Amino acid sequence: MNLLYKHIDRDDLLKKMSQLAREELLHFEQVVNIMKDRGIAYRHVSSSRYAAGLREQVRKGGVNELVDVLIVGAFIEARSCERFAKLAPFLDDVLAKFYRSLLRSEGRHYQDYLALAAQYADAPIAERVAEFREFERELIESPDAEFRFHSGVPVAA
Ligand SMILES: [Fe+2]
Repeated sequence: MNLLYKHIDRDDLLKKMSQLAREELLHFEQVVNIMKDRGIAYRHVSSSRYAAGLREQVRKGGVNELVDVLIVGAFIEARSCERFAKLAPFLDDVLAKFYRSLLRSEGRHYQDYLALAAQYADAPIAERVAEFREFERELIESPDAEFRFHSGVPVAA
């Protein structure tokens, strides 16, 4: 395999990531509209410990950093997919339909992230994915002071 070529040609990465970003922004607009319809004011919410904790594990520099960032993206998307699926049955028809559409997107996104990680890595990624699975387990199973879509175990106020 020609490694030099592999590192220069990132057309797939650019294309998939810009498509994904557009889709995420569309979802953001849909959320804002649903909130408006329901009279819910938009307020800023700090980012979760979960995502920050995963990003802390990203190796710095070169292809390792890219691969780790993509694996983190895959975990976040897959976990979102799972949580939308768990919540949908408890929602009204409009929200349930919306959550089901989101979970289908997230299901695609996590596969895109993993495929890109495998495509650009110098070696098989299974071991690194397993390491992130353990980091992720710790973040999900430990107490978390902030309640978010991806938080750990909520701490009673
Ligand atoms: Fe997504």
